[in-house]
Amino acid sequence: MKNYLMHINGLSVGENLKTQDVTNPATNEIVGTVPVGGEDEANQAIDAAHDAFGEWSNLTAYDRAVYLKRFHELMLENQEDLARTMTIEMGKPINESRGEVKYAASFIEWFAEEAKRVYGETIPTHVSGKRLQVWKKPIGVVAAITPWNFPAAMLTRKMGPALAAGCTIVIKPSSESPLTAMKLMELCEEAGFPKGVINLVTGSSSKIAKAVMESEKVRKVTFTGSTEVGKILIKQSADTVKNLSLELGGHAPLIVLDDANVDVAVKGVMASKFRNAGQTCICANRVYVQSGVYDEFVEKFAKAVNELKVGNGEDESVDVGPLINKAGLEKVNHHVQDAIDKGASIVTGGEASTTDGGVFFTPTVIGDADPSMVMMQEETFGPVAPVQKVETQDEAIALANDTPYGLAAYVFTESVGRGTRVIEQLNFGIVGWNEGAPSAAQVPFGGMKESGIGREGGHDGIEAFLETQYVAIGME
Ligand code: SIN
Repeated sequence: MKNYLMHINGLSVGENLKTQDVTNPATNEIVGTVPVGGEDEANQAIDAAHDAFGEWSNLTAYDRAVYLKRFHELMLENQEDLARTMTIEMGKPINESRGEVKYAASFIEWFAEEAKRVYGETIPTHVSGKRLQVWKKPIGVVAAITPWNFPAAMLTRKMGPALAAGCTIVIKPSSESPLTAMKLMELCEEAGFPKGVINLVTGSSSKIAKAVMESEKVRKVTFTGSTEVGKILIKQSADTVKNLSLELGGHAPLIVLDDANVDVAVKGVMASKFRNAGQTCICANRVYVQSGVYDEFVEKFAKAVNELKVGNGEDESVDVGPLINKAGLEKVNHHVQDAIDKGASIVTGGEASTTDGGVFFTPTVIGDADPSMVMMQEETFGPVAPVQKVETQDEAIALANDTPYGLAAYVFTESVGRGTRVIEQLNFGIVGWNEGAPSAAQVPFGGMKESGIGREGGHDGIEAFLETQYVAIGME
């Protein structure tokens, strides 16, 4: 077990502060401690980032890319250590953790290159003595508030474009899984980033968020987490008119039409639903299957689910690890019990277990689901897939859109015409068509409606950290 420290202005900070424990949800063992920082530490980090901004933003994109590429290399060289840290602090199966480290590193590499393609614009003038131009500038000091479910990738998806664009950053990782982020700070140190460019504070979320939201020096907040917290940040950003990027909750529908290749659909739902034990914002939360293929789909789906091995993520053969904590387990239990009470059937799974101090739920397929059930309305964040039979394509589309969320959706059909028409009517920021794993560094990730504001990844991901400055040049 290691006592980790915060990273502020190039120094390890917080030795004299109280600490909080980080526990492995597979065993309930303490695997590390972090300092409980508050407003003072957040303000020190903000000041450091503010002081470092001038020098960092004055470097060329080519110069900044040198640091980012070194950081990318170090992430890959330290893949195993980062993956193991992730697995013991939040339960992700080790093979998935290794995959996440590569995925996380890909954001750093991609944005190191993308910053070289941030172009301004020359706009045709209407007057011969004027020239009209658009310049792009880094937005300033950025605060990044990251979630526990992807401790590396959700951080680098924010850090990569922010740093590449010329911004400096203050990071607040989740208290559930801060250790991977803290290891990443050690690698940033090794990569030689100038002091103050990257800072990380741990501790009280409310106190750190208060300092960040009240500070006039912080010009942008980028947050991944619940819609509930996102709404609070929107309100708190008003006084200083901060720019916000919010990647919030989802409630993804997955539609299987009569003409789908059922094997492809089962592969897709397995990839989408059981990654990270169903604790992803884009995982399929409700499955709508047209009646012609319902029985075949449910049978093949249940067979595939029965083959998943549940256990401690450190075991190489485990497919589904624990849930993040007891509250997560209670929520899953409540959703499943509610569905049973309202007439759903358990096709397979449905059992909670707290063996060896861990918090596990067996991968579960629920049949005969309907919209009255809580799990068909709210994010379950667990390895549970409710399946509802539908008669028509239009019924599936109406049910899919009947939610305040709009992050991700999935459609399985072999018909180009049907797929195109269905997707045109779906109000979701990300759609997988015959595909259960749509994420990548180079694509825009984000949601419509209450699933958020803005996009991360891809070209939109760097635009989110840039200001547009219009320059009118008067000439003789
Ligand atoms: C998330 O759902 O929270 C992120 C998943 C991803 O980037 O694929």
